[in-house]
Amino acid sequence: MKFFIDTADTKDIRELAATGLLDGVTTNPTLIAKSGRKMLDVIAEICDIVPGPVSAEAVSTDHATMLAEGRKLAAIAPNVTVKVPLTPDGLKTCKVLTDEGRQVNVTLCFSAGQAILAAKAGATFISPFVGRLDDISQDGMQLIADICQIYKQYPAFKTEVLVASIRHPVHLIAAAKLGAHVATLPGSVIRQLYQHPLTDKGLASFLADWAKTGQSILDDDKAGKSAAAE
Ligand code: G3P
Repeated sequence: MKFFIDTADTKDIRELAATGLLDGVTTNPTLIAKSGRKMLDVIAEICDIVPGPVSAEAVSTDHATMLAEGRKLAAIAPNVTVKVPLTPDGLKTCKVLTDEGRQVNVTLCFSAGQAILAAKAGATFISPFVGRLDDISQDGMQLIADICQIYKQYPAFKTEVLVASIRHPVHLIAAAKLGAHVATLPGSVIRQLYQHPLTDKGLASFLADWAKTGQSILDDDKAGKSAAAE
């Protein structure tokens, strides 16, 4: 499963890219606004940090302008993935851009029918929003199950399921069990994945017992000999 980080905060991206766990980045207009920076500058910087796909979202709603925006965004770096909304104009733009050999992420997907349309439009990624469906008392993860099942029936569909609007590790684990190709996660959720109280407790007890030996792995002659001499 590929891990993308869902942010336009380059400090957070640099920190998590250093773990070696990041396969890509997703942004959206809200995240760009939150960064307080110029979109083209932020996307260029992110593309330098992470070599994998970096989603940059077009903001016009008509096909002609969205296409022009998509081409401009794609020209920033070879790893830009143009993000378009799941609308008739968005899918028309998706088809043209993917026919040109560019990567496209179709966003704001809330139904399996929409995901079928995106696959037929040649989308590289489809982004179903699980958290926002949960927010209105619908089952976001059932949508992921439905899309994964449908896409598996049609090997000609090359679209990858990119689970978006993930709010906590339980979403991520459920998506992984369903075989979703990609999860885009806020940095906070990636950090939560490391945590378990038994890991902390076990490590503290191992270190306490190790300290009693008086040994050092890196300086084993000194510590080992003095311990043996006693
Ligand atoms: O980038 C799209 C998606 O991940 C947004 O998530 O938390 O705003 O619903 P959220």
